[in-house]
Amino acid sequence: MTEQSSVLTPFAAVDTPALLLDASALKANLERMAAFFARRHCKLRPHFKSHKCTAIAKLQMQAGAVGITCAKLGEAEVVADAGIRNILIANQIVGPLKIRRLVELCRRADPMVAVDSAENVRMLSEHASAAGVKIGVLVEVDVGMGRCGVVPGQPALDLARLVAASAGLRFEGLQGYEGHCVDLRDETERVAQTRESLKALVQSRRLIEQAGLRVNRVSGGGTGTYTITGDCDGVDEVQAGSYAAMDWWYGDIRPEFKQAMSILTIVISRPRPNLVVIDVGRKGVGAEWGPPRVKNLPGSAVASFGSEEHTMLSIPPDSAIRIGDRLEIIPSHGCTTSNLYAEFIVHENGVVTDKWPIEGRGKLQ
Ligand SMILES: Cc1ncc(COP(=O)(O)O)c(C=O)c1O
Repeated sequence: MTEQSSVLTPFAAVDTPALLLDASALKANLERMAAFFARRHCKLRPHFKSHKCTAIAKLQMQAGAVGITCAKLGEAEVVADAGIRNILIANQIVGPLKIRRLVELCRRADPMVAVDSAENVRMLSEHASAAGVKIGVLVEVDVGMGRCGVVPGQPALDLARLVAASAGLRFEGLQGYEGHCVDLRDETERVAQTRESLKALVQSRRLIEQAGLRVNRVSGGGTGTYTITGDCDGVDEVQAGSYAAMDWWYGDIRPEFKQAMSILTIVISRPRPNLVVIDVGRKGVGAEWGPPRVKNLPGSAVASFGSEEHTMLSIPPDSAIRIGDRLEIIPSHGCTTSNLYAEFIVHENGVVTDKWPIEGRGKLQ
């Protein structure tokens, strides 16, 4: 599928644990999301943190994304290295060490960053002016998540004015991520809470526009809310990321996307008839939303974490699973799982077709 494509390797030759990526499921997910945004004003700016793999980011751009979202400066550098210029770091970049790197990044890409304080605005502007570059800035509004962001309304306008008046900065618009809504299990509640959050964001936009500032983009949203945020008048970009590779936590509320990511494991022990142990644990599976699920064995093998390198599967005592059997498991959280592996083993119909480096792995700085 990419220029890195090499020999066809039998799937069975892949050692465990390994992070697998089903190429047809990925393709279906990218096409489905692209089709949703194709006919809308709002566009997709996929979040890199979910897969951290530039081969996937490039496919997302080819499918019509306006740019890429990153959580960290180090991720943005990796994305820029892959030739993608339009990057939003949906986070605060603070302190001279990082701001110097951001200024350097401006020489080979067009990064934007989020701000929520006057101190940060001043720091960014001083460094950018001294280096003769302009940094694009989104004022982050807290739309109810209680993470970063200024209070909607007047505080957002005040900070937007400061950004617009800062020599080294370019006021681009607003960042508002409804993280407290994206994975609400009940759809009616998800729709209601998301709309409520977006109201505050869009009202802030209108206030800023009425004050005479141009708002180029309002960016937010995730996989759980893309249909709501993507249809909201006044929002220009959705930052969904999980939809590409998925996980079971999102799979339960967004069944329109396929499980492209899985972990190949091997059964290392069957100490009792109703228990097998596989060779991956908390160090190899993103675990925030619970233990993984076993692919293709729904209900008949229930996983619970044992320890760092072990996961236990409760099985029926008459199960045919044997030591040495290879099983695929689906993590509860794909974003933290991709961060644990050096590469995706890309496969189609049980045959390995490619290996894609996860260049953003461990890019915490
Ligand atoms: C700023 C921001 N935007 C968007 C997302 C959406 O990602 P997902 O597709 O996993 O919901 C996240 C997830 O944490 C985020 O932090």
